[in-house]
Amino acid sequence: MSAAPTGPATLPPGTLDTLARGRELHLDHYGRRLPFALLGGTGLRQRYAELEGERAGAVFEALDASGGYASACLGAGHEVVRRALDRGTREAGYATDEIGSLERSALLTEVLGEGGLWTDHFPAGEYHASGRNSGSEGMELALRLALETRFDHRTLRPATGRGERDRILAFEGAWHGWTSGLVPFLNRRHYRLGLPVPDPSRPYGTTVDHLPFGDETALAGYLSQFGDRLLAVVVEPIQGDAGILTPPPGYLRSLAERTRRAGALLIADEVLTFAKSGRFFAMADDEGPVPTDITVIGKSIGMGAQSVSMVIARKELTVRGSGAVATSDLRPLGCAVIRDGLRHIVDEKLLEHSAALGEQFTAALREEAVAAFPELYREIRGRGVIQGLELTEAAAGRLVELREHIVRAGVMVEFMAGAGRRSAGLRYVFPTLRIAPPLITGPREAEEIVARIAEGSRAFLGRPE
Ligand SMILES: Cc1ncc(COP(=O)(O)O)c(C=O)c1O
Repeated sequence: MSAAPTGPATLPPGTLDTLARGRELHLDHYGRRLPFALLGGTGLRQRYAELEGERAGAVFEALDASGGYASACLGAGHEVVRRALDRGTREAGYATDEIGSLERSALLTEVLGEGGLWTDHFPAGEYHASGRNSGSEGMELALRLALETRFDHRTLRPATGRGERDRILAFEGAWHGWTSGLVPFLNRRHYRLGLPVPDPSRPYGTTVDHLPFGDETALAGYLSQFGDRLLAVVVEPIQGDAGILTPPPGYLRSLAERTRRAGALLIADEVLTFAKSGRFFAMADDEGPVPTDITVIGKSIGMGAQSVSMVIARKELTVRGSGAVATSDLRPLGCAVIRDGLRHIVDEKLLEHSAALGEQFTAALREEAVAAFPELYREIRGRGVIQGLELTEAAAGRLVELREHIVRAGVMVEFMAGAGRRSAGLRYVFPTLRIAPPLITGPREAEEIVARIAEGSRAFLGRPE
């Protein structure tokens, strides 16, 4: 359990003004930001200030069930991260991707070398990795690695048998980032309208197709029509922004097998799911890991201290000379934080712990949210520390207000857009409250989070205790 942060219940003079002025200077792409500002925090416990109206200046505590866009896997101010930053700053130095570094080599051999932590998914000697600043950049590199297979890297002419592969398959409701190469993957009008997308009629152009997620029949039909034109498939093993949607059992394995048989590349976007599903990678089932050609991890890999991503790709996948140079590629300080954080997660069995925590959340939210407030919540689903509480249609229309009540009741939560309308007769998915607390969440804190969500829901409905 994390210690409660201490501090006054109202802000010292001048602080509210600083917060308000800073808010004005921070680009607002939401249209309406939450009327709160973070003052600080330790572990899961955070202190927030009210910024608007009669409450302005009031200070309250909230437990973090969000992980800050699901990234703070060790909570705030974790000792392991503090020590790694200290060690890395004092000893690791800095080096670019042009030259080796001891810290980077230590990390990569620990995870991908012989007997390494992730070699059940990525057999030693068969994969290599690169680092980027963010999940979006990692996904861009993954896309680039797939596109590069269409070319002979020496002559830069289309590679025999691959040049004509000009289709990429993504899924309805997907979120992979917002940079321009990724915009075509987002099949929702809101995200795409008016933004430039690659022109399929131009030389080397590609077309992105979308299928309903988890539908084997649609997949088989698509592959029989376009399999020999397919370059790559891009999939989130648990769809995040779509509302924490898990595919039917066996779907991911079948997707991998069918993709391989079609001669296409399978790209798993595990930016969100990394270290959240009760294991490091969610591309897995009862039989074990599901093989991929490229896997991108982000968010939690930065241990909440840095925004980084890592692209793990089959060794034969690479880019033309100097074609993916990045200032952010596995810098030694970053590697120190990742390595010490991963060791801590393994030593403390935090993944196993999070699997049990997930069961606790699912059971408690089913009873204390879905059953207790059927007018607000439709379903709870997910696993480990990636759970989704889907809103009803009526509640979806008042999402902003509901969220503010839950935060004031003392728990920080975030909402996913929901997949909206899907094809193949799949039902509409409404916005979904994402529960993705740090891995260090204790059972008592989990209880408290659920109780506070219920309290905020009651306050929203104006229902007495
Ligand atoms: C599945 C998935 N892929 C990619 C991204 C993009 O990551 P970033 O925000 O670090 O660019 C996200 C972010 O939410 C994500 O959930």
